[in-house]
Amino acid sequence: MHFNSFKILAVLALYGAAAYPTAPSAPYGRHYFYVGGKYIQVASGNTTSQYRVGQIYVEKLTPSIVTKQHPIIFIAGSAQTGTNFLHTPDGREGWAHYFLSQGYVVYLSDQPERGRSPWLPGHGEMVAIATTAIENFFTATQDFNLWPQASLHTQWPGSGRVGDPVFDAFYATQVQLQNDNLIAEATNAAAYTALVDYLNQPVYLLTHSQAGPFGWRVGDARPNLVKKIVALEPGGPPFEGVFPFFGPHPYGITDLAVEYDPPAGPNGSYLSTIVRPAPPGTKLTDCILQADPPKQLVNLAKVSVLVVTSESSYHAPYDYCTVDYLKQAGVATDFFDLPIIGIRGNGHMMFMEKNNLEIAERILAWMEE
Ligand SMILES: *[C@@H]1O[C@H](CO)[C@@H](O)[C@H](O)[C@H]1NC(C)=O
Ligand SMILES: *[C@@H]1O[C@H](CO)[C@@H](O)[C@H](O)[C@H]1NC(C)=O
Repeated sequence: MHFNSFKILAVLALYGAAAYPTAPSAPYGRHYFYVGGKYIQVASGNTTSQYRVGQIYVEKLTPSIVTKQHPIIFIAGSAQTGTNFLHTPDGREGWAHYFLSQGYVVYLSDQPERGRSPWLPGHGEMVAIATTAIENFFTATQDFNLWPQASLHTQWPGSGRVGDPVFDAFYATQVQLQNDNLIAEATNAAAYTALVDYLNQPVYLLTHSQAGPFGWRVGDARPNLVKKIVALEPGGPPFEGVFPFFGPHPYGITDLAVEYDPPAGPNGSYLSTIVRPAPPGTKLTDCILQADPPKQLVNLAKVSVLVVTSESSYHAPYDYCTVDYLKQAGVATDFFDLPIIGIRGNGHMMFMEKNNLEIAERILAWMEE
């Protein structure tokens, strides 16, 4: 009895504290390193100085007993860092802990020019995400109803609005991001390819949102080292740009070149497309797919892909187009449309929502198939 009431008091103290997050600690090894990037010369007046750009901060978490053959590399989306997966903004276990507890080595990272990965002033432009965008698109979509599924959001811990302590803890983690998509895609693909080369063993990539296209390009560049890609609501849909700063994707799923057979041509100009209307009576969008015969993503076709999409996200109307595009281009792609597999009420930040570990369990089962 004493022990129980002590535990309850401890929990109250934890949740009463102003500073989130305070996740449970687990025994694991933690090391960091930087990888990728290159030296560049910058002229100013009559002097030239040397700097390094494009390297990424990587954190290696090793469970006390490694039981799984392939490590998992996590790449977070726009304005996010590796903290996304460490624990949740209300202090629960994140996906990193979960996969560690299952015997996986986990690599968390910050994209180039993001968080602990340096940005060289003058290399593109840095922008920030305002609270309204986070509320509208991530945490409180049910209050704004900007797309047909938005009202189905129930899994964010707390109100998802400014002033709620969980929102405030989450918003405080939002950092700057590169405003130039082409710079972002080029630097990310190069840095994560360098990471895969450095590890030099088959890996799983887990990408979120903006990082989706970066994962496709790393898989395209290293199809023999990237064994599986789990893409949580990857940037899309094919060829189109949506929220909030993403332009068209001339290579279908990416802005920069990926290998097609026959070739996609300069800036994807040989890809010919059709519009496939949305199934009638659904809340889905039309899809832009390739016209027949579709060119094949010959490198990415060597990688197994899982796309995961939540019930209420702004991706819910169109992620099925990305899945169909990949399949049409020869990539073996599974799709966890979460409500279809019985997981309801999630939004774009599913890995930190109330049922985050339930989703992780399903992904784990897919990884181990
Ligand atoms: C470099 O430029 C500065 C001013 O811009 C000048 O004072 C200096 O003499 C120059 N040095 C050389 C080596 O030309
Ligand atoms: C590449 O194609 C996209 C549209 O598909 C276009 O917006 C962009 O300007 C093109 N870039 C170049 C360098 O031609």
